Amino acid sequence: MEPITIRQPDDWHLHLRDDAVMTAVLPWTARTFARAIVMPNLRTPVTTVEQARSYRARILGALPADMRFEPLMTLYLTGATSAEEIVRARESGFVHGVKLYPARATTNSQFGVRSIADCTAALETMQRADLPLLVHGEVARPDADVFDRERIFLDEVLIPLRRDFPALRVVLEHITTREAVEYVREAPGRIAATITAHHLAYNRNAMFVGADGSAGMRPHYYCLPVLKREDHRRALVAAAVSGNPRFFLGTDSAPHPRRDKESACGCAGCFTAPFALPLYATVFEQAGALDRLEAFSSEFGPDFYGLPRNPGTVRLVRGTPDEIPPVMAGDQEFSALGRDVCRWRMTTAV
Ligand code: DOR
Ligand code: ZN
Repeated sequence: MEPITIRQPDDWHLHLRDDAVMTAVLPWTARTFARAIVMPNLRTPVTTVEQARSYRARILGALPADMRFEPLMTLYLTGATSAEEIVRARESGFVHGVKLYPARATTNSQFGVRSIADCTAALETMQRADLPLLVHGEVARPDADVFDRERIFLDEVLIPLRRDFPALRVVLEHITTREAVEYVREAPGRIAATITAHHLAYNRNAMFVGADGSAGMRPHYYCLPVLKREDHRRALVAAAVSGNPRFFLGTDSAPHPRRDKESACGCAGCFTAPFALPLYATVFEQAGALDRLEAFSSEFGPDFYGLPRNPGTVRLVRGTPDEIPPVMAGDQEFSALGRDVCRWRMTTAV
């Protein structure tokens, strides 16, 4: 099998965290991706342009001297986000989107949006300034089954929101269901969706299987939106390989310390950055669509965000990726997911 050379990709949805954790995980993204949309859900969320400016400087400061990487910053939308802050974000040149977390939907979302009505001024200004809204598409109502939360969100929140702001550019992040695929494919206006490597590679059984194929519970496969049934996974693969520019790469790589994942109340998030591109390549090959990998990974994202495509290239060769050294921040370890199923590896040295 010939090596694959593709235009260098970007990650249109990434959690880098902060401080020592960021220093530990950032090189695993930067060795593959030229740029990433950096999520603002830090413990103190990034709600202002000044906070985003300072977070961006910390990211660049944590980057090893021999690596290049451009963080594309986002703001965390709250009921208090003002129209003025949106204007400042648009004018900053480094804020590329505003993230909607429904309150309590996921990690560090407690400061998120309780009612869309609280965000009218911000959304109107985003629509006018053409600053994209990035959406965590799940309702957080306790009576809504965790496997149905994305589907319910489409009907109860996203469709009405887009009716009210028809010119707003929207990215529905990390889609996990056939219903989301169908919605993004058919909906009017400017909408796209990111798809993670883990939602393409695994269905929900992956969370409930032991090493020998029998019983077990594997918290490293727990993320939000949670992995879904096989028919949903297949719909995601079909969308990713379809060549439709509304679907593009976003890993949602979300590191949590191993001890927080493997606890009585494990954190949501899959740390996939070290193996993300090999995982996507494996899925595309299994779907007979390796020739579509480049557009999904490296073209549709920048086109949607109105940014240039990267000039460089990356290479993948057949084979299982090398095991990576432990990813450590102090005494905390971060376990990366996906190596075992990869059939491709980066040629970049670890
Ligand atoms: O699984 C997830 N982890 N989903 C999210 O939406 C957030 C993320 C995180 O920050 O850990
Ligand atoms: Zn995320």
